[in-house]
Amino acid sequence: MQFGPVHWRNPLELGKILLTENQIRDRVVELGQRISEDYAGDPPILVNVLKGGVVFLADLIRAIDIPIRIDFMEVSSYGNATESTGVVRILEDLSQSIEGQHVLIVEDIIDTGHTLKYIIENLETRHPKSIRICTLLDRRGRREVDLNLDYVGFVVPDKFVIGYGLDLAQRYRNLPHIAVIEDEEIP
Ligand code: IMP
Ligand code: MG
Repeated sequence: MQFGPVHWRNPLELGKILLTENQIRDRVVELGQRISEDYAGDPPILVNVLKGGVVFLADLIRAIDIPIRIDFMEVSSYGNATESTGVVRILEDLSQSIEGQHVLIVEDIIDTGHTLKYIIENLETRHPKSIRICTLLDRRGRREVDLNLDYVGFVVPDKFVIGYGLDLAQRYRNLPHIAVIEDEEIP
């Protein structure tokens, strides 16, 4: 069997490409380099928010050249709808202590910010040395809470996006690019 570049044969006929694979790759490498420099003396634990952030994390950590650790949290804020409820539930918690450690939260997209605010407040009670945020996408036009984002891949418009980890009702996470879908395309 021969392994080579995979081409997305069926473009799913859903949405328009907002960010190509190449654009994402270049930006992720830049973010990884900045993170490597900023934390050179004291590598952080990257806390990934499942499931949307998992594709970004997988690429980001390979662009970082200091000995970081990773851990996961799964929270639920969306159900299967496309609107944030502001109600956040921890489905899966970290497997290690973050006390005295630098924490870098890795997110797919910050929308209203409710999910992230909840996570930050929760992690702060565990006394980390610092908490910073790295998000691939920032839909800042819809922000409802005040947040300081330290590393941002792309600022995106107020449209629903899928691919590269981001889902629509749990599907399309495996698209290699990020596509934007119009309201009337959402089933
Ligand atoms: P927030 O609490 O409104 O900031 O919602 C954040 C979470 O909702 C993100 O981490 C995503 O998992 C999900 N989300 C927000 N916008 C989108 C989108 O356009 N596509 C897919 N998931 C999204
Ligand atoms: Mg998320």
